[in-house]
Amino acid sequence: MVPVICIDGPSGAGKGTIAKRLAEHLGWHLLDSGALYRVLGHACLLAGIPWDDEPAVTEMATNLDVSFRPGSEGVDVLLAGQDVTRAVRSEEGGHGASAVAVIPDVRAALLERQRQLALAPGLVADGRDMGSVVFVDAPLKIFLSASPEARAQRRYSQLLARGESVSLPRLLEAIKERDARDANRDASPLVAAEDAVTIDSTELSVDAVFNRVLDLVATRGLGTRASG
Ligand code: C5P
Repeated sequence: MVPVICIDGPSGAGKGTIAKRLAEHLGWHLLDSGALYRVLGHACLLAGIPWDDEPAVTEMATNLDVSFRPGSEGVDVLLAGQDVTRAVRSEEGGHGASAVAVIPDVRAALLERQRQLALAPGLVADGRDMGSVVFVDAPLKIFLSASPEARAQRRYSQLLARGESVSLPRLLEAIKERDARDANRDASPLVAAEDAVTIDSTELSVDAVFNRVLDLVATRGLGTRASG
């Protein structure tokens, strides 16, 4: 079976950075599952479909023409061949994602698509329910968390660097709102899988988190199986 390393947690905990670095380090594939929900929200916006129109959003999810290619921030996202990376990674993109992600049929429609990305030599999967729902048999599940304040600050720096104008207090409010929506929804709420190892990154540098992750990878004997 193709090994999968799951990295789940709330937004802004550093999952994307760690997942990308780990995938590069191991030479494995990368699944940015949030991008799937983001591109779906964006596709609905373009088609004039409200995010709470469950049947229409589900149909959109089923027929979503999305593809990924390696990019500077992990993966670039293509919708029907058009590069929509910038739009889907905006705050608005995150808002749309968390709105469509509450629909159980949407999650079911995207489930198989995600599983199909578990290709040799291995997959690093970044999301909310990678370890709890999508790849329950994964040999390593990490739950990466950080305080809402630390996450808001990181997100703020990231968006500023991208040239987006944002307010830190509004970001913090949005993060808390998104956390509540992700944690309280009925379909695949954000919870650490029972067998996940939790890392709190509030006080840790990216390098420190990455080194802990590498220790776990080595302990489970995963890195050495990269080409096997
Ligand atoms: O990780 P990212 O911030 O890109 O995810 C955007 C939103 O997509 C999350 O807030 C969450 O609502 C949803 N999501 C999800 N399940 C995943 C990944 C993302 O519900 N596996």
